Amino acid sequence: MTDQNQPVPISREEALELLKSYVHQDNLIKHCLATEAIMRSLAKRFGEDPDKWGIAGLLHDLDYEETYESPAEHGKKTAEILKEKGFPQDMIDAILAHNAEALGIERKTRFDFAITCSECITGLITATTLVYPDKKLKSVKPKSITKRMKEKGFARSVNRDLIRLCEKIDIPLPDFAVISLEAMREIDEELGL
Ligand SMILES: [Fe+2]
Repeated sequence: MTDQNQPVPISREEALELLKSYVHQDNLIKHCLATEAIMRSLAKRFGEDPDKWGIAGLLHDLDYEETYESPAEHGKKTAEILKEKGFPQDMIDAILAHNAEALGIERKTRFDFAITCSECITGLITATTLVYPDKKLKSVKPKSITKRMKEKGFARSVNRDLIRLCEKIDIPLPDFAVISLEAMREIDEELGL
């Protein structure tokens, strides 16, 4: 079986349990759920396995609480944990790729680029939502997100260059904002937005 066809070895429910056993900050769990939602949507668009892309999104920050003081380690522990559980290499590679700059590796596949731009745009969308009077995703216009992209002082910690990697998978930024916003809206209650 080639790596591309190898399925996720655990259920989505087990993946969420795994996430919660390592990640305790509520906002970080929400960030992971939002990343999952966007990745599922992108997988469908590209004819990829939504579980594979979704669960990679869900688990990409599994070791964050252990590694936040050493960015060059972020992702490596997750890779070890998932390897041990028999996860396919392309999922592990994509998870490592979201932190490519700090790890000194290169993004190669569509999966690698997709997980990176997806996890980054969640921060911009959340910050954009929180300045709306009702703080609700349903009120947010996609144009607000692209406008906030250009405001460097807004949500400074969100890396715009990494969001723009959506263009590497042939999705123009305005389209990516729509896709991501719609995906997050589908789980607005879970996200509390
Ligand atoms: Fe993340």
